[in-house]
Amino acid sequence: MLLALIAQRSTPTNLALAAAAPRGVEIRVLTPEQALEAVQPGDAVLGRLDVLESLDGVDDGLWALGSLAARGIQTMNRASALLAAHDKLLTARLLLRAGLPHPRTRLLTAGRPLPPLDGPVVVKPRFGSWGRDVVRCRDAKALSRHLRELEQRVWFRAHGALIQELIPPRGHDLRVVVAAGTVVGAISRIAAPGEWRTNVALGATRAAVNPPELACELALRAAAAAGAELLGVDLLPDGAGGYTVLELNGAVEFTAEYALGRDPFAAAAWELSRRALGCPQGPSGRMQPVFPPLPAEAAPLEA
Ligand SMILES: Nc1ncnc2c1ncn2[C@@H]1O[C@H](COP(=O)(O)OP(=O)(O)O)[C@@H](O)[C@H]1O
Ligand SMILES: [Mg+2]
Repeated sequence: MLLALIAQRSTPTNLALAAAAPRGVEIRVLTPEQALEAVQPGDAVLGRLDVLESLDGVDDGLWALGSLAARGIQTMNRASALLAAHDKLLTARLLLRAGLPHPRTRLLTAGRPLPPLDGPVVVKPRFGSWGRDVVRCRDAKALSRHLRELEQRVWFRAHGALIQELIPPRGHDLRVVVAAGTVVGAISRIAAPGEWRTNVALGATRAAVNPPELACELALRAAAAAGAELLGVDLLPDGAGGYTVLELNGAVEFTAEYALGRDPFAAAAWELSRRALGCPQGPSGRMQPVFPPLPAEAAPLEA
């Protein structure tokens, strides 16, 4: 069986997944056009399209995922799942609907009045990544000042921006990687000195972590809510043992440091191959995961 990773770039994670294919499965990184040519009945595909460098949308190729799915090809990280993760407005709505904790989020559109959100807020692009243009505004004055700068941004004029309740930053977060309903890796990201954002692109460092059960459960639920088979789920700690699901990474990049007992690439390749071959395991296969109710402190916030 061929498992095609549909991507516009051969990222280190895509190459490591391809190298970790289990026996009997060939994993290849293909562009959307190449995948349409190469994929045959009985093969499977996984969408690995990322957001654009310009932050104003998603890599070209969602059309190919739709067209392969329509041909009856087993399609993982479908267009709907990638959009659920890449468009942070959609993420907020899906997490709210799933009853998962997420900061209150509003859409701010060019030329429209500011949505009401008290206290310090975070302003960010809908299709953001690498922490770029993620800005903290302490009060309404700082927010209106920032708005004037936003009007120069192409992504803002195209899609507006998100205004989000600020979860008090603790200098670190937790990223959990989920593959086909199984946690295959996790890392703690420690913000650079003087930096509140935890992106590695902004100087954060990675530290090994054994993710608590609650964090794994939230990550599995978030992946199920997005309908994604391979997803990175970023969790902000509340300092009292709880977490807020901050964002979903639909084209998550990870490293060998994410290992939880087994190599994270081998683990992900194995779980995704099992899913592609239709082998049910735990919450995988075609079964819908069934989770117990969340503890009361994780009650949903309005989005
Ligand atoms: N609402 C928020 N409350 C607290 N910290 C936030 C919030 N939004 C973003 N951050 C910080 O900024 C970083 C980047 O924001 P994020 O939404 O993940 O955008 P990106 O896709 O660019 O990584 C996060 O990892 C987190 O450290
Ligand atoms: Mg992020």
